[in-house]
Amino acid sequence: MIRIDILTVVPELLESPLGYSIPKRAQEKGFAEVHIHNIREYGKGSYRQVDDYAFGGDAGMVMMIEPIFELVRKLKSERTYDEIIYLTPDGERLAQPCVNRLSTLENIMILCGHYKGIDHRIREHLITKEISIGDYVLSGGEVAAAVLVDAIVRIVPGVISDETSALTDSFQDGLLAPPVYTRPEEFNGWRVPEILLSGNHRKIAEWQEEQALERTRQLRPDLL
Ligand code: 6GU
Repeated sequence: MIRIDILTVVPELLESPLGYSIPKRAQEKGFAEVHIHNIREYGKGSYRQVDDYAFGGDAGMVMMIEPIFELVRKLKSERTYDEIIYLTPDGERLAQPCVNRLSTLENIMILCGHYKGIDHRIREHLITKEISIGDYVLSGGEVAAAVLVDAIVRIVPGVISDETSALTDSFQDGLLAPPVYTRPEEFNGWRVPEILLSGNHRKIAEWQEEQALERTRQLRPDLL
């Protein structure tokens, strides 16, 4: 069982992506608990202020320390966190090995940035790990958090009913996945590769491995 606490100023952005399909099943089956916290509830004053002008006169708002600090402190008083992650385009680029390690932890906190970023003192004093999901800029960390949480919960043992399924994902063996087909055997003159219809499981496995290797060579030689 993994528990994930997500801190955000836009909870709506996370509810739908984590409320369907495999992430939903993971939570219903008790393999994962995802709690979404609205930082604004810890905002300052009657306006529930969560951001302010940047010192130094740069354009753009910065998320303030106090609301985040209060929420983090409350959560930390309830359990011990293995990682407190900040999602940011200048973090370590996310790849499957990091997802695999995170999926083995018990409690993780994920902080989604917004506006021009968060007061740097939060990163210095509260955050234990910074992750980016790729070299491009998103409007906020929420979509990245949905990506990260989806990737984590789907590989928690038991979540995917066919135990081998997550292990045959692209990247899990360092290769892209082989192509897959379903009925009909022929559509519009386009046939499924004969080998897959042969019933010879050893030959099929060999073919799939060849295909995985060839596709990786063609499409992602950097992985080899
Ligand atoms: Cl984690 N956040 C934002 N705002 N943009 C990103 C990202 C994260 N990863 C790639 N681009």
